[in-house]
Amino acid sequence: VPQVPRSGGAPTIGLLVGLMVTLAAVVADSWYVTRKISDLQTLQRELADRNRKDSLQLLRIQSNLNALGLAMRDMLDNDEPYPLTAWSTQFERIRTDLNDALNRQDQLAVSARTPEQRRYLVSSVSQFWDAVDRMFELAQSGHKDEARGQIRLSLQARQAALSTAVARLLRENNQSEEETAKRAQNIYRQVQYQVYLFLAATAGAIALTSLYLIRHNRRLFARLAALSDSRRDVTQQLMATRESTLRHVARELHDDLGQMLTAMGSMLTRAGKRVPEGSEIKADLREVSEIAQAALDNVRSLSQTLHPSLLEEAGLESTVRWYLSAVERQTGITVAYDRSGVPVGVEADVAIQVYRVLQEAVTNVARHSEASHVLVRLKFDSTALQLDVEDHGHGLNDGKSRHGLGIVTMRERAELVGGTLEFLRPAEGGTLVRLTVALNGRKKDVSAK
Ligand SMILES: Nc1ncnc2c1ncn2[C@@H]1O[C@H](COP(=O)(O)OP(=O)(O)OP(=O)(O)O)[C@@H](O)[C@H]1O
Ligand SMILES: [Mg+2]
Repeated sequence: VPQVPRSGGAPTIGLLVGLMVTLAAVVADSWYVTRKISDLQTLQRELADRNRKDSLQLLRIQSNLNALGLAMRDMLDNDEPYPLTAWSTQFERIRTDLNDALNRQDQLAVSARTPEQRRYLVSSVSQFWDAVDRMFELAQSGHKDEARGQIRLSLQARQAALSTAVARLLRENNQSEEETAKRAQNIYRQVQYQVYLFLAATAGAIALTSLYLIRHNRRLFARLAALSDSRRDVTQQLMATRESTLRHVARELHDDLGQMLTAMGSMLTRAGKRVPEGSEIKADLREVSEIAQAALDNVRSLSQTLHPSLLEEAGLESTVRWYLSAVERQTGITVAYDRSGVPVGVEADVAIQVYRVLQEAVTNVARHSEASHVLVRLKFDSTALQLDVEDHGHGLNDGKSRHGLGIVTMRERAELVGGTLEFLRPAEGGTLVRLTVALNGRKKDVSAK
């Protein structure tokens, strides 16, 4: 009996661990990526967008300041035919727009700038407008030169300082935008790295789990194969023993008991001859002689049933014929037998198994099918033998649990000779048992001796 390797138990724990690791990796990674994406969204919303809008307002302020600068230059140019007060409407318009831009910019820059920075811009602008008002007052009251002096000394300088401040703010915005972009880039890189890490971890977990499963399965299959081998060996030995025992008993019955009964019969006949005709003893002797003959017939028939010596003497085909006629006599079932092909020399160990399958299948028909006919077909061709036992009774009920050993043993026998056993349902209903055995190229040769 081959060695059966020990199995390591079901791989449940290993698989569960693999599953947990994979799930944990998925959860951790999803959490991380979600957090990073929301960071990115915040960055986008709070910094980048605000920065852009803020820069737009600053540009608006800058263009207003430029317009003021140009207007003041025109006012200082003496070749203008208009009085200085003619510019006051233009200044008013710019003032409204500038204030609006400043207000909007102030709201946007709440978090980005220090309170001093914000206050500086607002107060510088309002000081500029105070100075503008004073300059227009001077111009109104006819002090043209003083008003021009005011522009030259104070207003232009304030305008220039404001322009510088706004330019600086714009530059800062630009820098912070670059930083934001860098931070976003960084987050993208981290997420990318994380995704690679996750993929590697998952691939690793899957690979490890698969390797574990493969190893486990291989062990399991090895164990299964060994078990199956040893089971087959045991079955083969059992069947061989059974056949040889039956053969031995059949021989003993036929030879010993048969010879004794034959001897008894001839002695009785001889004794009968010595007794005068018509005596009572003569009648008794004849009766005993008939009983002895009946016993001899029974012993021979029992011997054939246990192990048909016909199989060795006359071959499978004749044995099947003899068996089927006995079945017809004993059970009352009509047997239709059909042989096709040339019965080639079937080896004795194959023949006995085919014969046993036939016996079991026919017995099953008689016992279970409730059919009155059975069709037996034996087909030979150059490579295989096929035995069909067909009845049109109620058929095998798949739902019913079966407790007999017959079908199991038939399968064992089929396997033993390297054949296949099928249970089919004929078109008319009932059961068709089909045994197919390849006549050459069988795997194992099991002797029934
Ligand atoms: N030709 C058939 N028609 C209808 N039912 C069948 C037929 N052959 C087998 N069966 C059903 O299949 C069951 C199993 O058959 P199997 O030969 O394995 O056991 P069994 O005949 O009941 O007992 P055992 O053969 O061990 O003496 C039977 O009990 C019967 O219900
Ligand atoms: Mg049976």
